[in-house]
Amino acid sequence: MQNTAIEISGLHKTYENGFQALAGIDLEIKRGEIFALLGPNGAGKTTLISAICGIVQPSAGRILVCGHDNVADYRAARTAIGLVPQELATDAFESVWNTVNFSRGLFGKPRNADYIEELLKRLSLWDKKDEQIRRLSGGMKRRVMIAKALSHEPDILFLDEPTAGVDVELRKSMWAQVRALQETGVTIILTTHYIEEAEEMADRIGVINKGRLVITETKDALIKKMGKRQMVFSLREPLQDIPSDMADYALALADNGNKLVYTYNAHQEDRDISDLLECLREKNIRPKEIESRQSSLEDIFIQMVG
Ligand SMILES: Nc1ncnc2c1ncn2[C@@H]1O[C@H](COP(=O)(O)OP(=O)(O)O)[C@@H](O)[C@H]1O
Ligand SMILES: [Mg+2]
Repeated sequence: MQNTAIEISGLHKTYENGFQALAGIDLEIKRGEIFALLGPNGAGKTTLISAICGIVQPSAGRILVCGHDNVADYRAARTAIGLVPQELATDAFESVWNTVNFSRGLFGKPRNADYIEELLKRLSLWDKKDEQIRRLSGGMKRRVMIAKALSHEPDILFLDEPTAGVDVELRKSMWAQVRALQETGVTIILTTHYIEEAEEMADRIGVINKGRLVITETKDALIKKMGKRQMVFSLREPLQDIPSDMADYALALADNGNKLVYTYNAHQEDRDISDLLECLREKNIRPKEIESRQSSLEDIFIQMVG
């Protein structure tokens, strides 16, 4: 079996009104990974997913889905994909069971009641199978959308903003469900503008901004590479200003001058720190507590997309 789920080269999309939503995307996504496409609103996430799924026609470039060109070999490419779109829409009066089976039929797959039963059980929907969709809670409706997307046994599942506007509890349960899906061998590609979601879920993260992939890294490498460390000194006496001869250090005051914050690169040598400590002692600035912390993915994200 092919090792690559998605292979994109030189992808551009300019909409009819002349707006360039994708400005040259190259990306490879491996089978079995959870890949998060992280970016602010309007970055091009939905456009990219729609291009992969064949809903949006690229202006240039090539997309392979499990080795199938998504234009020349559209049917094979599309069959390998399950898509949960950003806008949830489904027939409110149908039952869960009928909706999911019908979706499978749309892909020309023969009925398979055992598979659908297992799928609904996995998504904790089995006891709701005869319920009309309009009677379900928001979280259940979202899971029905996932069940629909997986009804034809695709290799790749796309989730476009799966938890936008969803409360924290529901979001966490979604994350657990998605992780459980990964264990069944499905490759998962999700878009999000929640950094916490990418941090929590993804093996690899692609940061997209203004139609370009700014960076693509494993989550751990991203944090290591871009990460900053901070040392926070809680002071015995508050400081009014940072002494002018300490301007070389990236220092800032916080908490009404009760805290002095030193920011440095995670891969930097410790020398500066001992120099700084020396300097503080000379000035009789005495910390009562020192705390060090690593910048979050959030800090990194803000640094990258402004
Ligand atoms: N059909 C369209 N015609 C013109 N511009 C569009 C169309 N669809 C999306 N856009 C624009 O393309 C940009 C990217 O949109 P989208 O891919 O939906 O971003 P995201 O999903 O990251 O929020 C936005 O500025 C949006 O307004
Ligand atoms: Mg979107």
